[in-house]
Amino acid sequence: MPYAAFDRSIKIAASILAADFADFGRECAAVEAQGADWVHVDVMDGHFVPNITFGPAMCQAIRPHIKGVMDVHLMIAPADAYLEAFAEAGADILTIHAEAGPHLDRSLQVIRALGVRAGVALNPATAPEAIEQVLDRIDLVCLMTVNPGFGGQSFIESQLPKIARLAEIIGEREIHLEVDGGVTPATAGNCAAMGADVLVAGSAVFKGGSVARPEVYGANIRALREAAAAAL
Ligand code: DX5
Ligand code: ZN
Repeated sequence: MPYAAFDRSIKIAASILAADFADFGRECAAVEAQGADWVHVDVMDGHFVPNITFGPAMCQAIRPHIKGVMDVHLMIAPADAYLEAFAEAGADILTIHAEAGPHLDRSLQVIRALGVRAGVALNPATAPEAIEQVLDRIDLVCLMTVNPGFGGQSFIESQLPKIARLAEIIGEREIHLEVDGGVTPATAGNCAAMGADVLVAGSAVFKGGSVARPEVYGANIRALREAAAAAL
């Protein structure tokens, strides 16, 4: 079901950046049927990040194929002019980068006013304290554990203490702590142990599978979940 109530259980967000771009509808349905909790949608503009993916029309097209949470990660600058379009496309969560514009507080207010949960993403070089002044405006923090722009990169280990620091800053607030980039069964345990509750994974979910062999997605998702559970 779409985003319901807050909880801090481990959630696997499957990034369709690693799916078959000619078949997004069936790919979304397949990963959900195989146990993905959220579908993570990476929007890139070739300006804020050195890659281009897709926009609001694509999000709207896949929305009917997603039963649960559509988690939209905007790697675009500026973002403000497009927030309404992504909300109308059916995003449950809209995440913008702290580095993408000068008026983070205002952009977050716009997202919530559109009736969507608001997230802030932090690049690896951005200090965790960047979220301190917007804690009352956010529902999610997305910590990038790679430099955004591409799937299949290696997890940046120096970000691990930052997960713990973000968990400390968040405290008891109902704010998800998501990690994004290089999450595999080898790195998921440390992320969970440091306090992350949403694990974004592209390569580690889609590797080896297809809509014709969706059981591979299921095994990949279970491996991530088990690695996280074993570390808690
Ligand atoms: C990177 C994206 C990630 C990406 C993760 O810029 O934000 O969501 O899909 O891919 P993997 O899991 O392959 O590192
Ligand atoms: Zn992402």
